[in-house]
Amino acid sequence: MAFQSIRGMRDLLPAEAKRLRAVEERVRAVLDVFGYEEIRLPLLESTDVFSRGVGESTDIVEKEMYTLEDRDGGSIALRPEGTASCVRACLQHGLLYNQQQRLWYAGPMFRYERPQKGRYRQFDQIGVEAFGMPGPDVDAELLHLCHVAFEALGVGSSLRLEINTLGSARDRAAYKAALVAFLEPHRDALDEDSRRRLDRNPLRILDSKHPATKALLADAPMISAHLDNESRAHFEGLKSLLSELGIDFVVNPRLVRGLDYYTHTVFEWVTDALGAQGAVCAGGRYDGLIEMLGGKPTPGAGFAIGVDRLAMLVDAVDATVANAKLDGYCVVLEERFTASAMQLAAELRRAGRRVRVHMGGGKIKSQMKRADASGAQFALILGEDEVTSKQVTLKWLRADLPQETLPREQLVARLARAGS
Ligand code: HAM
Repeated sequence: MAFQSIRGMRDLLPAEAKRLRAVEERVRAVLDVFGYEEIRLPLLESTDVFSRGVGESTDIVEKEMYTLEDRDGGSIALRPEGTASCVRACLQHGLLYNQQQRLWYAGPMFRYERPQKGRYRQFDQIGVEAFGMPGPDVDAELLHLCHVAFEALGVGSSLRLEINTLGSARDRAAYKAALVAFLEPHRDALDEDSRRRLDRNPLRILDSKHPATKALLADAPMISAHLDNESRAHFEGLKSLLSELGIDFVVNPRLVRGLDYYTHTVFEWVTDALGAQGAVCAGGRYDGLIEMLGGKPTPGAGFAIGVDRLAMLVDAVDATVANAKLDGYCVVLEERFTASAMQLAAELRRAGRRVRVHMGGGKIKSQMKRADASGAQFALILGEDEVTSKQVTLKWLRADLPQETLPREQLVARLARAGS
């Protein structure tokens, strides 16, 4: 019997893991220069954090959460997202008391969704949250940060930024009522999902991909008609900052999000290069969430990048981005030279080289085969002569350069001169 991984939970083999790490590192570097700080959060939370935070009537809470009974009988959940969890942590540790915070976290999230390309039951996010800043300036900063990260990864032109506003909680409630009043007489024309949402979560109907529902929505009322002056000013402020920062966007008045906590700004970075799972990053403002989880009213805004999707996009655009190759492969002709080879590798690694030392013995021919297969640029050969004379033989595996034997202390400089 062969064991298999659980459906929707992937093994990331080295090539893919490398790609994911390269993407994560670039995004982290951008977060760092923007002055955002890391917070590490548990994978398990009390189920209430999400049912209260994300919303009882959302798909995530209704059908996608992995919940289990803890040994003491309490209900706990594998986190389906990080925002509610981050707010919980900030409240627990008093990080929001008269303070602003700019935080990020990274790691796996879990949702029982129907798996397909780009949609998994365990997937990685980099989440970013900013607390204590009520204006559109921080919304713009968050989008600027995304923009810089996507440009750094070479995928800027493959992504389209869509923004919308849901207004204040009051605007939203008024709009919800207007939408329900409009749709109710057409209930029978709606698809089954939308019919259910009409009672539980009507704004989500705007998201429907169903042709008949979409046709009906063409004449539906727009949120823009239900915004008060303050909400309107917030959205206008964001749009003008984005324009001044040179960040292209489109306003999509049908953009609503699958989580209940949003107010005012919502956004998604979307690509056409990945098929159906086009949202690579999404977020918005959630001014009511902190209070909903037991804190004092505090503004918040943030987003999460789907790292698996971003890595796929990076790969689709430029497969070389994440191709950090091995530099050197140390061939060890006899077992007694193992320590010397390890020391030599350590010297090179201190100089920033990626080096692997051959293990497991074997003839020079088979070791050279391994060196070649490893993708390394050069092999370093340590035999009797080299070890006694403190030298090393350098053999280029890809470039057409002569083999040479040189003093070990000259090796780092020699490699730098070769430009490898
Ligand atoms: P979300 O839209 O649910 O938002 O997820 C954010 C991103 O995570 C999506 O745009 C997508 O790239 C990725 N993602 C979601 N589900 C899956 C999946 N099943 N497989 C692969 N990737 C997936 C949130 O989670 C909010 N917490 C974002 C946020 C932070 N809003 C404010 N702060």
